[in-house]
Amino acid sequence: MAAEKVAFITGGNKGIGLETARQLGKLGIIVVIGSRDLEKGTAAAQKLKAEGVQAQALRFDITKPTDYRAAYDYFDKHYGRIDILINNAGVSKESFGPNKTSATPVDVVRETFETNFFGTVALTQTLLPLIRKSPAGRIVNLSSILGSLTLHADPKSPIYSAKAFAYDASKTALNAFTIHLAHELANTKIKVNSAHPGWVKTDMGTDAAPMEIPDGAKTSVRLATLGDDGPTGGYFHIDQTLPW
Ligand SMILES: NC(=O)c1ccc[n+]([C@@H]2O[C@H](COP(=O)([O-])OP(=O)(O)OC[C@H]3O[C@@H](n4cnc5c(N)ncnc54)[C@H](OP(=O)(O)O)[C@@H]3O)[C@@H](O)[C@H]2O)c1
Repeated sequence: MAAEKVAFITGGNKGIGLETARQLGKLGIIVVIGSRDLEKGTAAAQKLKAEGVQAQALRFDITKPTDYRAAYDYFDKHYGRIDILINNAGVSKESFGPNKTSATPVDVVRETFETNFFGTVALTQTLLPLIRKSPAGRIVNLSSILGSLTLHADPKSPIYSAKAFAYDASKTALNAFTIHLAHELANTKIKVNSAHPGWVKTDMGTDAAPMEIPDGAKTSVRLATLGDDGPTGGYFHIDQTLPW
């Protein structure tokens, strides 16, 4: 078995996920990019390889339960473990602004939860036996500051008017998963944290976002590479703790 760490980054073909793979890869970590379109994943992995990163692509759709077991089998066969799971794949099906929560179609809420919450929970549960085999397992859940109930309820907070109900609620639920799983794993070597990358210039974040993609990957990379004395069950932007 290779001595290097191996990381699985879902939604790694573009945006924050691809940049997280790049930065982890430049630290000498083997990165496996999950991409629902294998061509895009392979192209992304090739780009990283050209930069000296050990990168592979795996076809992976987080809404397809058969893909969880396929991912398990892939890592079991090639590496026998997973050191880092970056639950990065995410969707937003609403605009970010003063949306009408009362008019958000329940189908939009369901579809958003399918990717951002249910798929992420089910994948993590499936892969956990392989993460337990790592000497220092790290699970990073890509949440958002928009998952913070404390900030949404505070008229003085910068996100008070940025309400996208389905997306926000899916990230709040994901935060609950972080806290609950970290509690269960508190006496293990595995750390589980939620990341807010910042508002980042990606297809989801749009060009209006103030942060460039390299900075947008910093929170995920930091949480993926925490030392044994690092936090678990937390909610962070870079090294700043966010209120739940
Ligand atoms: N950008 C921001 O400002 C911001 C702020 C806070 C949190 N976040 C979170 O950060 C994460 C990455 O966002 P981003 O800005 O990099 O977005 P992005 O550029 O839109 O990338 C999203 C990634 O998720 C993948 N994905 C979507 N549905 C999937 C599915 N069913 N199965 C597998 N992969 C799927 C996409 O694949 P395709 O290419 O196939 O669509 C893409 O690779 C998300 O969880 C997002 O909620 C972003």
